[in-house]
Amino acid sequence: MTPSRTDTRASTHWWQDALVYQVYVRSFADTTGNGVGDLNGIRAHLDHIAALGVDAIWLNPCYPSPQKDHGYDVADYFDIHDEYGTLDTFDALVADAAARGIKTLMDVVPNHCSSRHRWFLDALASSPGSPERARFYFRDGKGPRGTEPPNNWQAAFGGSAWTRATADSDLDDIQWYLGTFTPHQPDFDQTNTDVQAMFADVLRFWFDRGVEGFRVDAITPVGKDPALPDQPPVGPEIGTFDITWVNPYTVFRDEGHEVWRRWRTVIDEYGASHPDRDLMMVAEAYATRRPELTRAFTRQDEFHQMFAFDLMLTPWHKESVERALGDIIGILDETGVAPAWTLNNHDTQRIVTRLGRPEAEDPESWTGNALSTTGTDIDLELGDRRARALTALAFAVPGSLYLYQGEELGLPEVFDIPDDRREDPVFHLTDGEGLGRDGCRIPLPWSTEAATSFGFSTPARDGSVGEPWLPQPRVWGTYAATEQAGDDESMLAFYHRLSAARRVHAVPNGLHAELVDFGPGLVGLRRGSLVVVLNLTDEAIAPAPTVGIDLSAATVVAASTASPAAAVASGRIGACSTVWFDLGR
Ligand code: NOJ
Repeated sequence: MTPSRTDTRASTHWWQDALVYQVYVRSFADTTGNGVGDLNGIRAHLDHIAALGVDAIWLNPCYPSPQKDHGYDVADYFDIHDEYGTLDTFDALVADAAARGIKTLMDVVPNHCSSRHRWFLDALASSPGSPERARFYFRDGKGPRGTEPPNNWQAAFGGSAWTRATADSDLDDIQWYLGTFTPHQPDFDQTNTDVQAMFADVLRFWFDRGVEGFRVDAITPVGKDPALPDQPPVGPEIGTFDITWVNPYTVFRDEGHEVWRRWRTVIDEYGASHPDRDLMMVAEAYATRRPELTRAFTRQDEFHQMFAFDLMLTPWHKESVERALGDIIGILDETGVAPAWTLNNHDTQRIVTRLGRPEAEDPESWTGNALSTTGTDIDLELGDRRARALTALAFAVPGSLYLYQGEELGLPEVFDIPDDRREDPVFHLTDGEGLGRDGCRIPLPWSTEAATSFGFSTPARDGSVGEPWLPQPRVWGTYAATEQAGDDESMLAFYHRLSAARRVHAVPNGLHAELVDFGPGLVGLRRGSLVVVLNLTDEAIAPAPTVGIDLSAATVVAASTASPAAAVASGRIGACSTVWFDLGR
């Protein structure tokens, strides 16, 4: 029987309190010596992932793709990118993961495909008004011979959102196509029945291969005002990377809900004939500080979950952290929908760098977005301490938690990438105004051996090792997994401890939590018998007495420092630390 959505006390679906590990396939591990990660690389390191105690892996898109946006430009939704492996390799990965009790989640991209997708090539070759063009947004250009774009919409990664269907403006075809992100990613029209049928097939195809759910990419612009009116003028405070996201004709539209209801029907129908499965889809959208959006998109017949980026984007500042927590646990209490928390992903500056930035404490700063920031004056040691403290908090909060590969190694953002090695379209489409996201996607260091790109690459049969697709900094070896193993103070050991503590002291307490005010500088959270206190300041602080909570009688069960005793001495929470107390009831 389906449990009531208002029962927030216990989790009844695996994904409600899952720990999920995000694998950015290209940068995880390369088993062919070509400098590009692959699916066999994930298989080779599954023990590393399993040791983190995760319930599932989420694979960034691994479909055939020209890699103009590293897989978010899908050329075929029913196959595997040849650099990564084959459908057989994929099946073997799903089986190997399942053998360790780990489920597999796919990434699915509904807003757009690649400009090399067969349907789009067919559309370009077809005439205006054809069924082939109706799957996308083709519209006539404005002005004499249609030389102006159909409207003023801007692309998320820079420039106009419109591209002429033919480069030769003398031809009769005066149509343009819409690409919300880049010209290489034409937007689908999700009201088109061919498109709807294809995505239903996509979901079923991967469910048939054992996938347990989907991270659904970029739901924000799915569903548009069919008239595609000009976007109203925006003020100067709206920068290049924000214009798209304030366009009322393409952002969080009601038309989108219709798409997700259809998807949910497909999933529920599949689930009904596979009672042993517990399938899900989680929405990727930046709904931070707008809880009403999460409520709307996680209605019973839409997404099972939505990402909560609130803690990822929060400045290092008490009220901001409290608001991030409060907004989301409020939704959980009200609706029973468990959030998908995350502190890092492949689009965001890595946490140790982010929290080491001079402006990290500024309540007005919006630290998460790496699109336009540079790497000056960063205190990585401070960032590391703060990262552990915030991560320790995130491990305690109800909901699932998505880890991004490399955060368990404490990897910093890499800024020192020559322009000609940068790959992110954000960098190229803005002429470097936006640094882009390459710095959080550097191939992982597994060992200290520089000759194999710090263990990222296994040499090819002839012994050769290609350059990693993004250059690794010289210091990379110091973060290597092999270096951290057995070191109690390491980030890796910290993740192992926290994951175990989460399983024993957090998850069994169910899905209800509340904020507790322990006084200035401290953020407190209670989840059943677990009380967690984060000290955001540079000094040790004793929590103020709080009705019903006697911390002096509680047991310290985890902390952000290697030794819990160091994090709580004489009843005071250490500077920049988080402590977990179990009240024992
Ligand atoms: C969000 C993805 O996380 C990002 O990497 C991608 O560039 C955009 N969506 C477009 O698909």
